[in-house]
Amino acid sequence: MSGDELALIEEAFLSNWIAPLGPHVDAFEEEFAAKLGVDHAVVLSSGTAALHLALLIAGVEPGDKVVTSTLTFVATANAIGYTGAEPTFIDSERSSWNMDPQLLAEELADAAQKGQLPRAVVVVDICGQSADWKPIRELTDEYEIPLIADSAESLGATYGDRAAGTLGDIGCFSFNGNKIITTGGGGMLVTDNGDWARQVRHLATQARDPAPHYEHSQQGYNYRLSNLLAAVGRGQLRVLEQRVDERRAVFEYYQDAIGNLPGIEFMPEAKFGRSTRWLTCLLVDASLSGVSPERLLQEFAAENIEARPMWKPMHLQPLFRDAQYRGGKVAEDIFARGLCLPSGSSLTEQDLQRIASVFRSVFPDLKKPLVA
Ligand SMILES: Cc1ncc(COP(=O)(O)O)c(C=O)c1O
Repeated sequence: MSGDELALIEEAFLSNWIAPLGPHVDAFEEEFAAKLGVDHAVVLSSGTAALHLALLIAGVEPGDKVVTSTLTFVATANAIGYTGAEPTFIDSERSSWNMDPQLLAEELADAAQKGQLPRAVVVVDICGQSADWKPIRELTDEYEIPLIADSAESLGATYGDRAAGTLGDIGCFSFNGNKIITTGGGGMLVTDNGDWARQVRHLATQARDPAPHYEHSQQGYNYRLSNLLAAVGRGQLRVLEQRVDERRAVFEYYQDAIGNLPGIEFMPEAKFGRSTRWLTCLLVDASLSGVSPERLLQEFAAENIEARPMWKPMHLQPLFRDAQYRGGKVAEDIFARGLCLPSGSSLTEQDLQRIASVFRSVFPDLKKPLVA
């Protein structure tokens, strides 16, 4: 927390707006839209809810096809499932670990030839890094397909001079507890389309039609965020840039401390944008290092340090065993060799030294001294 949140929550209490609407909800949306340079922001109960409503607004219906990134957290694909659509997964490119635009081009060309274009494309900005949006946008414009950004993990990242999450028709963000800024749980949907923003607010509040009684002509959802949590979000938004700097400093510490180890390769920062380094991710090549990622995970666990494997690609998940997949083995390789290190902005220098010393104990011939 930044320190401002408690005063903002107190203000919400004193105003008695303890509801999924109120002045903090409105102000959080306005401040978020202004920070990202978009016309409209709608605050919701989770990033998953934002994705679900984004797909519905894009016109996705049961039986439709939706193309998305295979290297992601399951929430992206689950939201597609909620609509009754079928996901098609696309492999990553090496330079960003995000959807390979060339593979998307092939997928859309094939689909067009078969007369089976997807109803929407959902591109994920993974682990704090933007995808390569320009060629992706050109493709979806050419085929006139709505483009949705799942930037749940990448608030604060940039693509050129634009904020990640603003390069599609709709962008989705998460304020889950592990995200770069958090409301405990929450999400945001952004768009420049005022009519869509209005529809999202309508759907998120049980789709109540204008009438003196309760009148409903459409299925709605209870997806709005509480005024209390929006107060937390406003305090958090004030320190977003600081949090990005802190995450990047954590990454730089690791790079200095363990970057010279054999077989260690950090997630690259693509030339087209600035990553937040939401997670410090790396690949471990056991044939060069003599140490497997699994062994490192065990060593961390023995020291009560939480490190994790990278996301398991969606096309390898039992849940999506029947889904279509286009690509090779890039995401599979990132999963097989990938590790996510503790990356929180509250990590102290002592914490970082302790984490780096686990590497030192497993790689005893480490020549370079650990950073002080
Ligand atoms: C890529 C991605 N998409 C969507 C989500 C869903 O966000 P939430 O947890 O707020 O529903 C997450 C994380 O939780 C995520 O990592």
